[in-house]
This record gives sequence, C-alpha cells and structure tokens, in this order.
Amino acid sequence: MIDQASPWHAYAEQVPHVPGPSPVRQRMEWGMHPGIGPDARVLGPALHERRVLELGCGDGHNAAHLAGVHGAEVTAVDLVGTQIRRANEKYGALKGLTFLVCDALRFLRNGTLPFDSVYSVFGALGLTDPEIMLPAVARRLRPHGRLVFSVPHPRRRSRSSPPDGRPHLDFLLLPDGTRRPVTRWEPDVPGWHSALHRAGFRPTGVHELPDPLRARLTTLVISARRR
Ligand SMILES: C[S@@+](CC[C@H](N)C(=O)[O-])C[C@H]1O[C@@H](n2cnc3c(N)ncnc32)[C@H](O)[C@@H]1O
Repeated sequence: MIDQASPWHAYAEQVPHVPGPSPVRQRMEWGMHPGIGPDARVLGPALHERRVLELGCGDGHNAAHLAGVHGAEVTAVDLVGTQIRRANEKYGALKGLTFLVCDALRFLRNGTLPFDSVYSVFGALGLTDPEIMLPAVARRLRPHGRLVFSVPHPRRRSRSSPPDGRPHLDFLLLPDGTRRPVTRWEPDVPGWHSALHRAGFRPTGVHELPDPLRARLTTLVISARRR
C-alpha cells in the first residue's frame, strides 16, 4: 500500500492560496462544478446549533459555510497542517467552527461525543477503506444521524469498479503538472450501499453529478442515515 499522506502535503503546498480572511461562500458545493446538485440541506433541514463533522476539510470553505450561513457547530479535520493553518486564517473568526489537524479515522476512533451529521467532500471517505471508515463514522453519529459524502464518480473514465471492494491506484494531478499516486476505494452505487448496510446505515439518496460541458459524470454524492 502506498503512503496516503504525502500526496496531500504536496497538494496543500501547491494549491493556490490568497492569504488573509476570506468571505463565506453562499452555497455549499458537493461536486466540481458550481450550482449543480444538492446544497447544504442534504445534511438536514435545520442545521442551526447541530453538531456537524467534516472529514478532510482542506481550506475549510464548506465548514465555514455551514457555521457562517446555517449556524451549525462544526468540527472540521484535515490530515495536513498547512490546510488547517489556512482554514484558521480564512475563517477562524467565525463562531461555531473548530479546525483540527488529524487523520479522520484517528479522530473518529479517539472520541465519544456524537454528531448529528458527518460529511466529506472529496475528503477522507473513499481515501480510507470503507469497511473500516464507515463503522467508525457510525460510532460517532447519533441514531438516525446523517452521513453525506462526495467522491470522484467511479464511471468517470469508463472503467468499472474493482471487484470485492478492493482499492485501486489513482493519480492526484498537482498544479505543477506532476502526478502523485493515491489509493482510492471506488465502489459503484450498489457497492457503497452494501458497505453502508454492513456498517449500520440506511442509504437515503444518490446524486450523480455531470460535467455540464462534456456530458460525462464526474461526482457521486451518497447520503445515508444511521439506523
Ligand atoms: C481534494 S481535497 C478536498 C478538500 C475539501 N473537502 C474541499 O472540498 O475543498 C482532500 C482533502 O482531504 C484531506 N485528507 C485526505 N486523507 C485524509 C484523512 N485520512 N484524514 C483527514 N483528511 C484527509 C487532504 O489533506 C485534503 O485536504
């Protein structure tokens, strides 16, 4: 198995960054193209003062939206310190927002306080074995709490998902044009649903988001509730 952390350190170093506080975005995006697919309401109809957890928050713009626009109490974790430093620089003044440097699985396993909703936008879900990650998420969600996550669509390159829940080697394209290997778990929709059932979830929704210009699928958004 390859090192899963270092590509994300390289990504954080290269991704464009404007220093200083940033305005809160007015819409939450789950995919690669703005305005397409669900918004924050997929995490629950009333998020005010709800405890929400993000796994793999990057620079924190989605967490900032949930805290700043919806009044949620958001904890957002990322593996990479540079990302969390930037998140604090951009949005640290907002109420109800906590950013932490931590591996998602480690965070889930090391605490007990339950969350109302857990989400990941191209974050730790799909980059960690779902057979390990999904039970760990279920453990930190209150009964009937929501899990929503987006991952690259498994059919984005007309390649079928590996059988038996096995991961495959993908490449992260960095801004300087180089590519870093990453391991991804990319079940198809029935595969995700089986894994969710095994971990104690009831799948509640699927959105398949297209690239509006090229008419191909880019993103899979899966919603589920803890039983
Ligand atoms: C493609 S970026 C997405 C960031 C953010 N969710 C967004 O939509 O802009 C993936 C992020 O997940 C983080 N990440 C990857 N594996 C992780 C893990 N096991 N635990 C926590 N964060 C992780 C990376 O450091 C990176 O910031």
